[in-house]
Amino acid sequence: MRAAFASRFDDADPLAALTVGERPEPTPWDDDWVTVQVLASSLNHHDLWSLRGVGLGADRLPMILGCDAVGVDPDGNEVVVYPVIADKGDPRGISLLSEHAQGTLAERVAVPRSNLLPLPAGLSATDAACLPTAWLTAWRMLTTVGRVDEGDAVLVQGAGGGVATAAVALALAMGKRVYAASRDAAKRERIAALGATAVEPGARLPERVDVVIETVGAATFDHSLKSAAPMARIVVSGATAGHEPKVNLRRIFAMQLQILGTSMGTPEDMAQLLAFCAGHGVRPVVDSVHPFSQVEEAFARLHSGDVFGKVVVDHTR
Ligand SMILES: NC(=O)c1ccc[n+]([C@@H]2O[C@H](COP(=O)([O-])OP(=O)(O)OC[C@H]3O[C@@H](n4cnc5c(N)ncnc54)[C@H](OP(=O)(O)O)[C@@H]3O)[C@@H](O)[C@H]2O)c1
Repeated sequence: MRAAFASRFDDADPLAALTVGERPEPTPWDDDWVTVQVLASSLNHHDLWSLRGVGLGADRLPMILGCDAVGVDPDGNEVVVYPVIADKGDPRGISLLSEHAQGTLAERVAVPRSNLLPLPAGLSATDAACLPTAWLTAWRMLTTVGRVDEGDAVLVQGAGGGVATAAVALALAMGKRVYAASRDAAKRERIAALGATAVEPGARLPERVDVVIETVGAATFDHSLKSAAPMARIVVSGATAGHEPKVNLRRIFAMQLQILGTSMGTPEDMAQLLAFCAGHGVRPVVDSVHPFSQVEEAFARLHSGDVFGKVVVDHTR
C-alpha cells in the first residue's frame, strides 16, 4: 500500500528523511485490532520530530508517520481513530500511532477496535481528521488540566499552530475572553477574525489571565508568567521554540501560579471533544488540504512554519 514514512533521520532537514512509496499492509498487534481504510489524516509537529529522530528509535525504521485519521472500519462505519494505544514496550505504558505501531499516513492503519469512535454527523472526514492529536491536546489543556470553567480569560501563545488555533476556537466557543499572541501580522489578523484579541509576542495584556496555553516554550514562557493572574494555570504541552526557558520562581510562588504539563487526552476527552464540536458547530481551523498524491507538499507546508491551523491530507485523492 502507499504510505509516507520515515526511512532515516535528518535533524537539519527533516523533509529529506521523508519517503513516499510502498509499504506492507499494517500488522494488527492483537486479536482485538482491526484495519481501518483511511479517508483523511492531518499532520502534526510530531511527524517532523519523528523525521528528526526525536522520540523514534532507529531500530523502528522504516516507520509510517501520522497520528490522526478518519476512516472506514471493517463493518463499513465511518470512524475517528483515537491515536493513543496501550504499549508495554514504552516506559509511559502508552504510545502514539507512528511511535511503535505504524501510523496513519497510509492507505490503511491497524488499531485496537476500542480506539474507534463514530464520526459525528455534520463533521466531514477532513475536518474530523484534525481532532485526534492537536485538538484533543488543546481540549484537555483547557478543561481537565487548565480548569478553564473556573476562569474567564485565556492567553494562547504561538497563535498559528495546530494546538493553538484549536485552543482559541474552543475557548471562544466556551464563552471565554481569549488573547492570542503571534509573531506574524497576517496570523494576528486571522486570529482576530475568529473572535480573539490578537497581540504581539510579549505585549502587555489589558488583564491578567486565568489559563495560559503554552506550546511555544522558551521564546514565550516569561510572557506567559507575566500575563498570569494569581492562582492561574500555565498549561504546557509543547516546546517548539526550546524546552529550557528561564523561570522566575519568585513570580511562581508570589502569584501562586501552577505550571502543569499534559499530553494528548483520554478516550473520554476525545468523546467529549467530538460531542462539543458537533453540538456547538465548532469546526477545526484548516490551513490547507492536500491530496495524498502530494503529501510531500503538505510536509513542506508544515515545516515552513507559515501555517494557520491544521495541514490536512485527503487520502481519497
Ligand atoms: N504533548 C502533546 O500531546 C502534544 C500534542 C500536540 C502538539 N504538541 C507539541 O506542541 C507544539 C505545537 O505544535 P503544533 O503542531 O500545534 O504547532 P507548531 O507547528 O509547532 O507551531 C506552533 C507555533 O509556535 C510558534 N513558534 C514557533 N517557533 C517560535 C519561536 N521561535 N518564537 C515564538 N513562537 C514560535 C508559532 O506561532 P506564530 O508564528 O503564530 O508566532 C507557531 O505557529 C509542538 O512542539 C508539538 O510537538 C504536543
